[in-house]
Amino acid sequence: MLLRAALLAPLCALPLHAQDGGQLYTLYCSACHGADGKGATGGTFPPLAGSDWVMGDAARPVKIVLHGLHGEVEVDGRKFNLEMPPQGSVLPDDQIAAILSYARTSWGNKAEVVTAEFVKATREATADRKGPWTQDEILKLHPLPAAKPPIANLISQVYKGEWQKLPDFSTLKAENIEEEHDGKISIKKAGHTDLFGMVWEGDLTAPYSADYLFRIDADDGARVIIDGKTVAEVNGTGPMDGGRGKEGSIKLEAGPHKIRVEYFEYYGNEGIALAWRNASVPGWKSLSDTSVKGGREPIPLVPLNGRAVVYRNFIEGTTPRGIGIGFPGNVNMAYSADDLAPELIWTGSFMDASRHWTDRGQGNQAPAGEKVVKLSGSRALPDNARFRGYKLDAAGNPTFSVQVGAQFLLDTWKPAGATGEPALARTIAVNGEGGPMEILIAEKAGVKEGPEGFELGAVRVKAEGEGLVSRDGKVFVKVSPGKPATVTYSWK
Ligand code: HEC
Repeated sequence: MLLRAALLAPLCALPLHAQDGGQLYTLYCSACHGADGKGATGGTFPPLAGSDWVMGDAARPVKIVLHGLHGEVEVDGRKFNLEMPPQGSVLPDDQIAAILSYARTSWGNKAEVVTAEFVKATREATADRKGPWTQDEILKLHPLPAAKPPIANLISQVYKGEWQKLPDFSTLKAENIEEEHDGKISIKKAGHTDLFGMVWEGDLTAPYSADYLFRIDADDGARVIIDGKTVAEVNGTGPMDGGRGKEGSIKLEAGPHKIRVEYFEYYGNEGIALAWRNASVPGWKSLSDTSVKGGREPIPLVPLNGRAVVYRNFIEGTTPRGIGIGFPGNVNMAYSADDLAPELIWTGSFMDASRHWTDRGQGNQAPAGEKVVKLSGSRALPDNARFRGYKLDAAGNPTFSVQVGAQFLLDTWKPAGATGEPALARTIAVNGEGGPMEILIAEKAGVKEGPEGFELGAVRVKAEGEGLVSRDGKVFVKVSPGKPATVTYSWK
């Protein structure tokens, strides 16, 4: 009861008047779309800020909130394939109206507010709707405004000549100059297929002040120049999509910047592909009519809805049978089922899954976060010990189970940072017939020891129970059957 009351208290304390669109947004939308509307967890979720989906015809966002949305969707040039749960049964008409009015007038969005009457009418008109919308269904009913060209005021110039490297176009005379109203880099209208060059110039607007990445690939050569600085270049002759593509980064202030792209084609196939993205947000946006291949995008794995997330793949710093757990609260760990021990703990982001989720997924993936601490790197239990798997509780917290003879060791991990500083709590219990066990919890010469704890790299380790035993640069915790020990790791 106490726990229940504690959980409910902060919700009850919020005055949920219909007009508090901002507060309602924080409660019902910001976990996924971000407090700043840019999409939570570094843009894993689609943005509402600057999204055409939110603006214009209000029926579109109202129906999405009522019934949800799933399958592939494209928002502001980036593709997502996720699931938004329906909220129609949780949120009354006036609250949906308040939230959407807030979203349509915040973060630079400009659209009319939404009334409760409109939501009510939309709800009644779609009462038969079962299941979330797909992009096709909802955009057929409520199309998005025509997409803005990616590059404004774009002009292209065509040159004729024989080059095997990018020439100095400033010394050459263009045979043709054209305005490109679709704002995309394209060689379709060049009028040649061999021995020509092209230069494009226009204005590219950076939505935020941030580091941006550009990726360019060409058959044969091309470079992208932003505000007079070459950011990425593929030079010489050769094919596209064959590993010649190049990436470069540049810091840009929010607002328009001069973009210049130079290109040449020698003989044979021809093509150019150019894309860019905010370095901290996944999702390349194409600036050409051909998309760039080979640019691996980060796929951050994040705990959702307060539940820990599991990653079972090759994690750098532990053994092949590593099990990674990313907890809410920016704390993470990796357990080795070979060494029967937790081996890595870290703070910040959990894992980038893109290496192993794309077809070329080979090798180890390093933790994505910071302050990685290696706890140990050798077998923690006797030779007869066997890994018996792990269980997750309702919050996704794992209990790793190891059998040693007739005894079972149960090792449970939870986030513990109630005070706001990142911490992990571990409970080690021993069941079954037998005496106390000594479990390796740290392995490093020169750990600084106190009475019931020690420091290891960036963490303070505290143990409660029967105490710590240390020998040969290793620290063990003693656990007897029926008397669990707790170990807390907090980052300094
Ligand atoms: C559990 C996470 C989650 C919550 C909570 C959530 N959304 Fe979404 N929302 C998504 C996802 C995921 C998509 C994209 C669905 C897809 O990929 O098919 C989306 C798409 C959208 C879109 C269309 C695409 C875009 O980015 O403009 C709108 C509009 C939207 N949500 C509004 C809201 C509003 C308003 C709320 C709060 C009432 C809300 N969402 C709550 C996850 C969520």
